[in-house]
Amino acid sequence: MIKTTHFGFKSIPETDKAHKVAGVFDSVAERYNLMNDLMSVGLHRLWKRFAVEASGVKAGSRVLDIAGGTADLSTLLIKHIGESGEIWLTDINNSMLTIGRDRILDYGMDISVAQCDAEKLPFPENYFDCVSVAFGLRNMTHKDVALKEMLRVLRPGGCVIVLEFSKVWKPLQAFYDNYSFKVLPAIGKFIVNDENSYRYLAESIRVHPSQEELKQLMQHTGFERVEYFNLAAGVVALHRGFKF
Ligand SMILES: C[S@@+](CC[C@H](N)C(=O)[O-])C[C@H]1O[C@@H](n2cnc3c(N)ncnc32)[C@H](O)[C@@H]1O
Repeated sequence: MIKTTHFGFKSIPETDKAHKVAGVFDSVAERYNLMNDLMSVGLHRLWKRFAVEASGVKAGSRVLDIAGGTADLSTLLIKHIGESGEIWLTDINNSMLTIGRDRILDYGMDISVAQCDAEKLPFPENYFDCVSVAFGLRNMTHKDVALKEMLRVLRPGGCVIVLEFSKVWKPLQAFYDNYSFKVLPAIGKFIVNDENSYRYLAESIRVHPSQEELKQLMQHTGFERVEYFNLAAGVVALHRGFKF
């Protein structure tokens, strides 16, 4: 029997998901940063700063940024780890990763880059002080497998930070639905001539686990002291968990 998974509201064979997600990010990569600023009216920058503060990353830390894309989080993390630290920008998608790598080089910063699947990380176990994933987990076919991999490569005492869209505060739901199903695809059509990718964005958020569900999934994976912080009334949540 064929195993299926979500691609937005559609149910598709698991084997097709990575390819479809790649299509989305190949299509939007060039204007990805501009779209983020427009869609969130710049708020994503604050969410990412909050995530980096919560990570506890400091000079000398070893950090793995998974699904790092155009390197927003990596550029913030680099400033914390200093010259004695080590940071890897990784993503499954070459279009996104190339933009991220070029951006880092343009800023005159140094980073290691690897194109890889979060579900099969090419790193040793017990290595990183912090693993980060921002707005990436939602797109992965097997979130449980990806989380297990994150736990494996973390050193005991290290933490994972997962920044992701989540369940918005109920009184705002109608407004938020209207915004995400009508306004976002319209902006996507205007800026990148691709409304479907932004419809996928809205749908994928709706089928992603809630704050509590993700917390449970992380605990089930083996993370400890798991907690989350709601941002913008739950539009986004930052989950943090430790390996002991
Ligand atoms: C919405 S972007 C987030 C980029 C960046 N972290 C940010 O916050 O701006 C999602 C990223 O997840 C990546 N991605 C999706 N599935 C992945 C997987 N299985 N392994 C690694 N990266 C993946 C996509 O290629 C894309 O670059």
